[in-house]
Amino acid sequence: MAVKQISKDIYLINTLHWERRLFDELIPLPEGTTYNAYLIKGKEKVALIDSTDTLKVEEFFNDLKYLEVERIDYIISNHAEQDHSGAIPAVLDKYRDAKVVTNEKCAELLITHLQIPRERIMIINENDTLNIGGKTLRFIMTPWVHWPETQTTLLEEEKIAFTCDFFGAHLATTDFITEGSPEVYNSAKRYYAEIMAPFRNIIPKNIEKIVNFNPKMICPSHGPIYSNPQLIIDAYKEWSSDRVKNLALLVYVSMHHSTEKAVRILEQKLVDYGVQAKVMSLTSADIGEMAMNLVDAATLILATPTVLGSAHPNALSAALLANLLRPKTKFLAVVNSYGWGGKTLEDLKNIMTNFKGELLEPVTFKGLPDKEAEEKLNNLAKIIAGKHRELNLI
Ligand code: FEO
Repeated sequence: MAVKQISKDIYLINTLHWERRLFDELIPLPEGTTYNAYLIKGKEKVALIDSTDTLKVEEFFNDLKYLEVERIDYIISNHAEQDHSGAIPAVLDKYRDAKVVTNEKCAELLITHLQIPRERIMIINENDTLNIGGKTLRFIMTPWVHWPETQTTLLEEEKIAFTCDFFGAHLATTDFITEGSPEVYNSAKRYYAEIMAPFRNIIPKNIEKIVNFNPKMICPSHGPIYSNPQLIIDAYKEWSSDRVKNLALLVYVSMHHSTEKAVRILEQKLVDYGVQAKVMSLTSADIGEMAMNLVDAATLILATPTVLGSAHPNALSAALLANLLRPKTKFLAVVNSYGWGGKTLEDLKNIMTNFKGELLEPVTFKGLPDKEAEEKLNNLAKIIAGKHRELNLI
C-alpha cells in the first residue's frame, strides 16, 4: 500500500508487488513490479486513471480509503490488460455513478475480459478532451505499446503524460519519482525488451506524439514516474532505432561440455577480432537478460547440442522467443555439436521465420570440437568481425 501526492490534487496510487517474480507466467521480474493508478481531483469531477492488478484489489481499496475518496466520476482506462484494469469492476460497484472512459477497442476488450457493462463505458476518440474542472484530460491513441488499444492520457495544464505500459519498468520501489538512475534505466530497458520490442516499428510514431506534447512529467503504470522525461524518451528512441552495437550475444546450452568448449573457443576468437561477446547459459540465465541484450546485439549466436534428433529444447525455446521478439539483430549463426545426425539446423531455421538479417554459415562438428571445428569457429568469429566492421561498429 503506498499513496503519494505528485502535484496539487493529483495522487499516485502505487500498488507495490515486491514479491512477484513472474509476469504472464513467462517474464522474470527480478525486482518485482508496481501497478500505478492516478487520482486527479478537479473542481467539479474526480478521475481515476487505470487501477491495479486483479490480485491486488483489496489493497487498492485500502489506498482509496486512505485517500478518503468519496466519489469517482471517471475511470480512465488507458489499457485493458488486467494488471491495470483488474479493479475496475469493483470500483464501478462501489462508485455507482462512475463511468469508464476509453476508446472503442479498449471498451471491447474490457467487456470481453472483465465483463464490464457497456452502458458504464463512455467512448472517446483521438484528441477528445474531458474537463473535470480546472483540469483538462486529452486522449491520444498510442496503439501497440503493447496492445492494439493502448492510449495515453495527457493532463494539459500540468503537462503530465499518463502513458500506462509505455515507458514503464518492472521495478518495485518507494522511490516513486526519479530523475533517472542506472537501476531505473536497466529495469526500463528490460521492460522494453520483453514487452515493447516486438512493436519496434510503431514505437517511434508514439514517441513523437508524446514529444509533441512536451511533457514535464511522464507517469507510467509500472515503476517510477519520470520527472525528467527526456531521459526515458531518448532511451526509447535509441532502443527502437535500427542502430545495433558491436556485440555478439552467444547463448548456449551444453549437456556434456562439447558445445560449451566450442563456446569458449568462439568467445576468445571474437575477442581476438575485436568483437564484444556476451555469453549466456540458457540453463542459468533468465530470458529477460537475453531479451535485453537483443536490444543492442548486432549478432546472435545460438549454440546447442543435438538431442532427440533436434536442437536442445532450451535452445528451441530461446530461438522461439528471440523470433517472437523480432530483434533488430543483423546476423545469426548456429554452433552445433552432434553425435550422429538430426535436424538441428533445419528446426532452428524453421523457427526463426521473423529474422530478417543474414544467416551466417553454421559451425557443426561431431562430439568435441577438433582442430577442424576450431578453424571453423575462428572463421565464424572473423566473418562476424568483418560484418561488424562493415557497419562501422568496430
Ligand atoms: Fe502492464 Fe500490458 O499491462
